[in-house]
Amino acid sequence: RTLDLRNGCLRRRSRLRTPQGATLQIDSERLVSLDADVLGIRFSVTSIDYSGTLTLASTIRTGQRPARQGDDPRIGVVGSHRLDTLAVAADANVASLAQRTRQSGIALCCAQAHRLDGGPLVFLDAESEDHRAVQRFRAELQPGQSAALEKFVAYASSGEGVTDALAPVVDAIALAVQTANDGYAALAATQAATLDAFWRDADIDVVGDARTQLSLRFNLFHLMQSASRHARSGTAAKGLTGEGYEGHCFWDTEVFVLPVMLYTAPEIARAMLGYRYRTLDAARANAREMNHPRGALYPWRTIAGAECSAHYPSGSAAYHINADIAYAIGLYLDATGDTGFLLEGGAEMLFETARIWPQAGHFDPLRDGAFGIHDVTGPDEYTALVDNNFYTNRMAQRHLLRAVAAWESLSASHPQELRALAERLSLAQDEIDLWRRAAEAMQLPVDARLDILAQDDTFLHKPRWDLTDHNHDRPLLLDFHPLTLYRHQVCKQADVVMALALAGDGFDAGLKRRSYDYYEAITTHDSTLSPAIHGIVASELDLHEKALHYFTEALRVDLDDLHGNTDHGVHMAAMAGSWLGVAWGFAGLRVIDGELAFTPTLPPGWNGYRFGVHWRGRRLRVDVARDGVRYRLSG
Ligand code: BGC
Repeated sequence: RTLDLRNGCLRRRSRLRTPQGATLQIDSERLVSLDADVLGIRFSVTSIDYSGTLTLASTIRTGQRPARQGDDPRIGVVGSHRLDTLAVAADANVASLAQRTRQSGIALCCAQAHRLDGGPLVFLDAESEDHRAVQRFRAELQPGQSAALEKFVAYASSGEGVTDALAPVVDAIALAVQTANDGYAALAATQAATLDAFWRDADIDVVGDARTQLSLRFNLFHLMQSASRHARSGTAAKGLTGEGYEGHCFWDTEVFVLPVMLYTAPEIARAMLGYRYRTLDAARANAREMNHPRGALYPWRTIAGAECSAHYPSGSAAYHINADIAYAIGLYLDATGDTGFLLEGGAEMLFETARIWPQAGHFDPLRDGAFGIHDVTGPDEYTALVDNNFYTNRMAQRHLLRAVAAWESLSASHPQELRALAERLSLAQDEIDLWRRAAEAMQLPVDARLDILAQDDTFLHKPRWDLTDHNHDRPLLLDFHPLTLYRHQVCKQADVVMALALAGDGFDAGLKRRSYDYYEAITTHDSTLSPAIHGIVASELDLHEKALHYFTEALRVDLDDLHGNTDHGVHMAAMAGSWLGVAWGFAGLRVIDGELAFTPTLPPGWNGYRFGVHWRGRRLRVDVARDGVRYRLSG
């Protein structure tokens, strides 16, 4: 099997020996288009020593059983509901099968068409039933002869609860037939051109270390092919590669995947934000459900926009999702200078989400009026429902200031549009003033005894979990009740360290180092999101061996199946973390007050590395070598 990263296709050659002892060689090349909702397969069967009839059955099959959950809550819900079949048909030209989800009423149709191109294969028959549509082809083969076909599969879906559920059938069939008319070579050429443009800017080299270089490219390829490139759908934690987490999007999308796309393919980052804008109404509905009369609260995990968490302490309580999305909007504005985006949904998202903070917190009179946020869960899910989670407070502070800045910049540049938006949202200056005061008074406590940043109001008062004999192959969550974990100082993943990676500017270096050492010692990294972030902060603290160690954990997470669950889907955030480990970590890329800055280092044993960054419509190539750093601006 060969995965061709440059052309975006997978090739496979296999030899098949039939029970009668004949040998056939099967060659296939397949690609999932990055430009249209289609996949193409070029398939051929060559007889080595077989004489006789060959029948190929080309099938759309649904009704597969979902992956078994076993004792691992991360895989999905056992026996998830089957879909209703809406329509199924197959004839000589096309086969199609349409289904609809039971709760959300989304219709999805899959259609296929073929090209035989004058070879020995001819159409034999077609058949359809509830969960299956099949078209069969037949050829007479002699040793040395091949039978080849091209297969094209198109997908089309409706929005949620759309009544004309059969529209996707028409669309999918038209797309499959059109793609078949154009042929595989045309599809492959478009794919290669798209990837060519991507790699030209995004390619990443590690001088003299082919294995690391290939791993980085493999991860980057996965990210770019799984990131949503239109606002219709989100970018899931497993991309489109497996059933783990049931296809849901989390904060992984904005905090891990989006920054990588932003610097390598900014139009994809924009599309990713478009998806959040498309689901803003659902976030408003979620806020009402959570008793917030104003504003929008994005769900912790979702597909179509509704909250899909089953366990609220480690789900809906993760209010930081709002700040994470605001963080991504801020990164996008800084990196692209696309201020038009503020008027096209950016400001509305910033404002509506900022409104939640004064409803989840208040100016605490017992702490001299400092602003506190209560009963939320931060990234470390081994601690839940706490007051003043450091990550949440720090990111909310940044979020509020970003919303204030957007308000001010629009009042200066587009006062009329701002007035219209404010009227539509019933938003007035007093709320903006409140955001500013809350940000300025935000509690970010330092523990006086340990002289470190406190993860929350009570974390440091709890007993420490003894990790001396900890078996790192098995996450604690599989063996301990959440309450047992919540009662101890033990972190599933970076939390304070995460805040230092995303918004660590302004903290004293000694405080950062002490905090890092303290939390690292009680972190199990049971989430694959954790190592990359530890590596990034380790780079900043000049802990270069550690930085390289953590970078490698993120880099190889799926290639080496480090968590033993890659068969449930790849870990998009960790893959993104490996690119960030190079850019934010080794090269020290930071954006502070809108300005791009680097503090490059060379990891131990490396001779150099190069990567590309899009910045305000220009392309920057960063080349770090033993004898210095070269920044080349092009485009
Ligand atoms: C992590 C979350 C993450 C989710 C999806 C969980 O194990 O703790 O932070 O969003 O996986 O990747």
